[in-house]
Amino acid sequence: MIHHRSAWRNRWTFMLATAGSAIGLGNIWKLPYMIGVNGGSAFVLVFIASILFVGIPLMMTEILLGRRAQRNPLNGMEFLAAEARVSPKWKLLGGMGMLTGLLILSFYSVIGGWVLSFIFDAASGTFTGIEAAQSTSNFKNLLASPFTLLFWHTVFMYLTMGVVARGVNSGLERANNILIPALFAILLILLGYSMSEGDMRSAFHFMFSFDFSKITPVAVLSALGHAFFSLSLGMGAVMVYGSYLQRNVSIARTTIYIALADTMLGLLVGLAIYSLVFANNLAPDAGPGLIFQTLPIAFGHMPAGRLIATLFFMLVAFAAWSSAISLVEPTIAWVVENTKISRKTSTSILGFAVWLLGVSVVLSFNEWQHIKVIFGLNIFETLDKLTSTILLPLGGLLMAIFAGYFMKKYHVQEELNLEDRGFKYWRIANNYIAPVAISAVFLYLFGLVK
Ligand code: TRP
Repeated sequence: MIHHRSAWRNRWTFMLATAGSAIGLGNIWKLPYMIGVNGGSAFVLVFIASILFVGIPLMMTEILLGRRAQRNPLNGMEFLAAEARVSPKWKLLGGMGMLTGLLILSFYSVIGGWVLSFIFDAASGTFTGIEAAQSTSNFKNLLASPFTLLFWHTVFMYLTMGVVARGVNSGLERANNILIPALFAILLILLGYSMSEGDMRSAFHFMFSFDFSKITPVAVLSALGHAFFSLSLGMGAVMVYGSYLQRNVSIARTTIYIALADTMLGLLVGLAIYSLVFANNLAPDAGPGLIFQTLPIAFGHMPAGRLIATLFFMLVAFAAWSSAISLVEPTIAWVVENTKISRKTSTSILGFAVWLLGVSVVLSFNEWQHIKVIFGLNIFETLDKLTSTILLPLGGLLMAIFAGYFMKKYHVQEELNLEDRGFKYWRIANNYIAPVAISAVFLYLFGLVK
């Protein structure tokens, strides 16, 4: 069967789309609060190491799998398995990735909704002159209103699915061109403010003192998981984008640019936030509400803060939007390439299913707060931990094993197209470092190693 497949116009659009997928709530919302919850610098150190030694090589792996397969993750793995003459069961890996993406989207959309509601708060001047206590209660009030959360979650899902229904190429990548650089620019303004008014010294110390004694197993697990989350790895999103990539583009170089931009952005947001946290005597371990409680204080006091805050939350919403799209695209690509169901119809059906799961996430912040699913985690926490710390690293581990031990080496070489030394580095990381690191963390997690 011949499928019409769209392709990126050039390397730049691929890069922007993949960066658009990587840069999102993971950098701006999740990384900052995870740093605080996991004890600061120890987490940062393991996170950076995970990006360098696991994230970057595995991103290359995922792109190469996608580009070689030229298909959605499920059919793609099936095709690659056939090419390598191994069991067709490898396609289950593609299926697992799709499911993971949908699970992530269910809570991603709820948080995306928080951001949307903050655009309006910012624009209406709610933050002007706001102090820490007010800012905290403003956010608590939002969490306590299921209908408001539900409304914004619905809007976010609608926006996401609207773009997905129209297809990848006509989507957002052109806008990414302006909006990602704009996000960086506004972040620099924020950072400038934090430097002059906040406590940058303490923030720096908190994030970069690299105190090895503070490294706990939980921090290691969360940091590794977050490297996957932040780079959009382990579920096939990058694979799908790679499948639209032309043959003549260097996978290694593109990956390094994306990973650096993504990591830098997250760490810069972290610095800006913690500088405010310490200057205002707020708790670094406030959890998921951290940026929503601290940023308004900065915006509320800087010149033109109302405008800057509005722009900031708009750009974050945009970044979240382009990430959300990549969470569903693999599944939609699979449906469209395998069934007669149209893109529009499949998007509506899946969108509804994910939205519904999202409703339970909304409720887990208020009415169902006390419902614990497993290990004392509520619905939101369960979905988050299950995907970030188990499903994504597991997906990445299996992809690494597949590319490293099952694919023909010359097929891999053909895709990566690296000189000998580069290829050797990739191979050591992909075949040994990443699998060992991920397995070690899992063994520990399941209590098999103490
Ligand atoms: N990386 C995005 C972020 O940091 C989230 C995301 C988009 C993602 N697509 C993904 C995470 C695929 C894991 C897998 O916000």
